[in-house]
Amino acid sequence: MFQIRRFNYCRVCLALLLVWLLAGCSRVDEDVVGETAASTSLNAGASTPDYLAYLEENEQLSGGQATVFDTTPNAFSQPIPGLEREQELLFFVGNSFFNQNWVTAPASTTARDGLGPLFNARSCAGCHFKDGRGRAPEFAGEMPTGFLLRLSVPGTDFYGEPLPEPNYGGQLQDQAIMGFAAEGVVNLVYEEMPFTFPDGETVLLRQPVYELSDLAYGDMHAEVQTSPRVDNQLGVTLTFNDNDGD
Ligand code: HEC
Repeated sequence: MFQIRRFNYCRVCLALLLVWLLAGCSRVDEDVVGETAASTSLNAGASTPDYLAYLEENEQLSGGQATVFDTTPNAFSQPIPGLEREQELLFFVGNSFFNQNWVTAPASTTARDGLGPLFNARSCAGCHFKDGRGRAPEFAGEMPTGFLLRLSVPGTDFYGEPLPEPNYGGQLQDQAIMGFAAEGVVNLVYEEMPFTFPDGETVLLRQPVYELSDLAYGDMHAEVQTSPRVDNQLGVTLTFNDNDGD
């Protein structure tokens, strides 16, 4: 008797469970259907999710017809799709000059010698690594990659361009070939500053502070202005990150 009652109780449980599951399933199905409908109607322009309304037509083609869809580390180094054979040849010749290191003259090569005497990097790719972004040094003394310091003094030239620093020119060159002194060293330290959002949340921001030392060619102008730059990706490509953020 007890057994049967328990059985009855479980049947009610099972029935309830089934109802709950079915309700759950149908809810999930509705969601999926809703989403599919939204994405298929994207082109039709009807009932799109809010954020899609802010996209421009073909916004995913950041490089226009030249956009490449690539998730590899070489994503920014691709030629424009559909180049003629000859144009492709030109691309690869140019690309090799971009990647190869220049050397001090005289050298066994005559096409790539003449580096320096002062310089920032031995090749374009020395800064534009894989045509992607550079970054400022993480700590004082780390060699910069794709980072440089522009120099100027107050005023503008005939064309409205900044006036170069009289002794060091428009850019600090922190490397030199053998027998020459580099112009100087950029020392970068970060000062941490707390910042509070209007909602009260606090974060620590890093403010870079640049200092020049070991200036080899005399003092700089008293009013020298510095402008640190980090290079951007060069390719007109669009990349998609996979979900783990690589
Ligand atoms: C010392 C590092 C360094 C070297 C070497 C270097 N670049 Fe750059 N490049 C930069 C930085 C930094 C910028 C960004 C400048 C700025 O924002 O004012 C830049 C910008 C550019 C841009 C503009 C990109 C844009 O989106 O506007 C092009 C094109 C470019 N570099 C090509 C080259 C080529 C070609 C070479 C070799 C002949 C080269 N670079 C060598 C650091 C470098």
